[in-house]
Amino acid sequence: MLKSTNIKWEDSSIVRNDYEIRNGHRGVVVWFTGLSGSGKSTIAKAVLHKLFNDNKQVTLLDGDNIRHGLCGDLGFEEVDRSENIRRVGEVANLFYQTGMIVLCTFISPFIKDRQSVRQKFSEGSFCEVHIKCDINICKKRDPKGLYAKVAEGKISSFTGISSPYEEPTNPEILIMSDKFSVEICAEQVIKHLKLSGII
Ligand code: ADX
Repeated sequence: MLKSTNIKWEDSSIVRNDYEIRNGHRGVVVWFTGLSGSGKSTIAKAVLHKLFNDNKQVTLLDGDNIRHGLCGDLGFEEVDRSENIRRVGEVANLFYQTGMIVLCTFISPFIKDRQSVRQKFSEGSFCEVHIKCDINICKKRDPKGLYAKVAEGKISSFTGISSPYEEPTNPEILIMSDKFSVEICAEQVIKHLKLSGII
């Protein structure tokens, strides 16, 4: 399967620690997982704005956006979702190596895929955020009209309905997005980053 052979990793003369010193904070991958419509993107965007306004080096990798380009060749069967998450993990690592705070918002429904991304990072550099929301609330919100399409039988393998969502068993942050405002949820993430010494 691996077709790239005879290749060598080119080390950079500027390492992550150099970037982190200049940035004034540590790098980290903040991985938001949850159902479609649970609020991953909305909460992550609020976190992005807060960190950006606080002069932090931060970026956001979002599922729908990544699937417009880098992962546009992938669908929603299990094998494609796994490949999606694998690629994103690689991209997140490239950003992380420049000391950035990398916010990633992907349904990422399978524990094994999230686990293999986590394994790329050292303890404390990967922060899993479970955006927990009752599926009936997600259906009611239906920001993209997808649950309606599912009900009409127009979308197959839809997470939480015809495709599984495996909840994190021990996430660094658990956010009940159906109980609290976006502002409070975003602050929960910021607080964690402060308490764990990232920012
Ligand atoms: S993941 O499962 O591979 O992590 P990802 O986060 O990239 O998914 O993409 C999810 C987005 O694709 C959803 O927010 C939704 O807008 C769209 N989407 C389209 N079809 C599906 C589907 N069958 N299941 C889930 N999301 C879908």
